[in-house]
Order: sequence, then structure tokens, then C-alpha cells
Amino acid sequence: MLERAEAAERTLSEELDRTVVKSVIYVSGDRDPRVPITRPDNGRLVMMGQDPRLARMPERPTLFDFFKYRFGPANHLMQSARLAQKNGVADKLVLACLLHDIAIAGFIRGDHGYWAAQLLEPYVDEEVAWAIRYHQALRFFPDETVGYAYPQMYVKLFGADYEPDPYIRRDYEYARNHRWYMSARLICINDLYAFDPTVQVQLEEFTDVVGRHFRQPKEGLGWDASPSAHMWRTIMMPTQYL
Ligand SMILES: [Fe+2]
Ligand SMILES: [Fe+2]
Repeated sequence: MLERAEAAERTLSEELDRTVVKSVIYVSGDRDPRVPITRPDNGRLVMMGQDPRLARMPERPTLFDFFKYRFGPANHLMQSARLAQKNGVADKLVLACLLHDIAIAGFIRGDHGYWAAQLLEPYVDEEVAWAIRYHQALRFFPDETVGYAYPQMYVKLFGADYEPDPYIRRDYEYARNHRWYMSARLICINDLYAFDPTVQVQLEEFTDVVGRHFRQPKEGLGWDASPSAHMWRTIMMPTQYL
């Protein structure tokens, strides 16, 4: 299988005039990271900048541009935000619902709450980023007082006897006693697993919410000098050699 994958990859990079060398993190598991990755000596330049196989991002990308060009169909996020709105959740926390899983949608799945919070911290209210960071841990722990049960989907995904890692329990316990606990909990309550594919939600529904609570940098996300700009650039140009 690996050979077939490698052959497919060779064909793919032959179609490009640049060599793509994947980051270790993309391929670890399929390959052993102790084995060095060798750059094929094919006389070609390596990939820098925007990968022509991906939709080109505008010069000064906005949050919505990342949704459109890099985050796949973000139905889960939009439906969660819409549900939050319907439930009368505070405006800035509707934004938290809209953004809570962006790391899954376009970056890195593992520890997605932490990654998303870090991506967003320079651009949103501290409470919004905090809620997004901790929704991940709170997801594993029911709170009957607000009608949040352990997700059936997790039993299906992880097995009935799954125990979250100690750091998840630690962060849950920390969050439970925090003054912003309910903000993170509200993300869980409005986090929809079963979504109706016939319900169409448009990003534009949230233009005003984003306008009020997301500080869009004038240089474009990724081109500003914020502490997470490089992460947005990696989403924009995931195959850069360096
Ligand atoms: Fe999540
Ligand atoms: Fe979610």
C-alpha cells in the first residue's frame, strides 16, 4: 500500500514542476519518523509559496476566506453557531461556536481545542479563546445541571471504556472551577453531532457576528505580525519546503 501511495505521489509531483516534501507530522504513522526523509534528487525546485493544487488565497485573506478556501464544508460549525443563536447565547459566544472546531476543519485534529485557541487568541476576546480551548476537555465530562450528557458519538468513536488522558481531566477540573466555565460549556451544549444535510447555512449569516467580535488584521490573516500569524500561513501554504 505504501508503495502504491508513493507511486501516486511521484506521479503527482511529476505533474507539478516543483518537488513537494511533506512535513513529518503529515506522514508519521504511515512512515517511521526515525527514518530520514530524503528529498528526491530530480533537478527540480522545491515547493515554496502557494501550492498550485490548492485554491489560491486572496492577497489579504480574511477569516471567511480561510473558511471558503481551506476549511472544507464547515457545516458543523455553521449549524452549531446557528443553534447557539437560536438558544439566545451571547453574541461573542456565537462566534466561539462558529470557530470552535476550525483546527479540525483545516489544521490539526489532535488537541484541536488548544490549537484553535492559539490560532485565534490575537484576534478575539480572551473569553472566546478560553472557551474554545476548554470545550475540548469539557466534551468528555457530563454536566446534568445544564442538560449536557456524555456524547453517544464518543462511545461509538472511542469505545465504551475510553478514559480521557490525565491532562484532559486536569484541564476539565481547572475549567469547571473557572469563572468562564459556562462559556466553554455553552460550546458543548450547542455542539451538534447530528446535522441535517438538508439544512443549508451560509457563512454570510455570520458576517455581523464576525464583524463585531473578530479583529481582522488589515494585512490579511497570516501576513500580520501576530503570535499566531505563522499558523495561518501554514494553513494557507501547507506544502512549503521551509
Ligand atoms: Fe470540538
Ligand atoms: Fe464540534
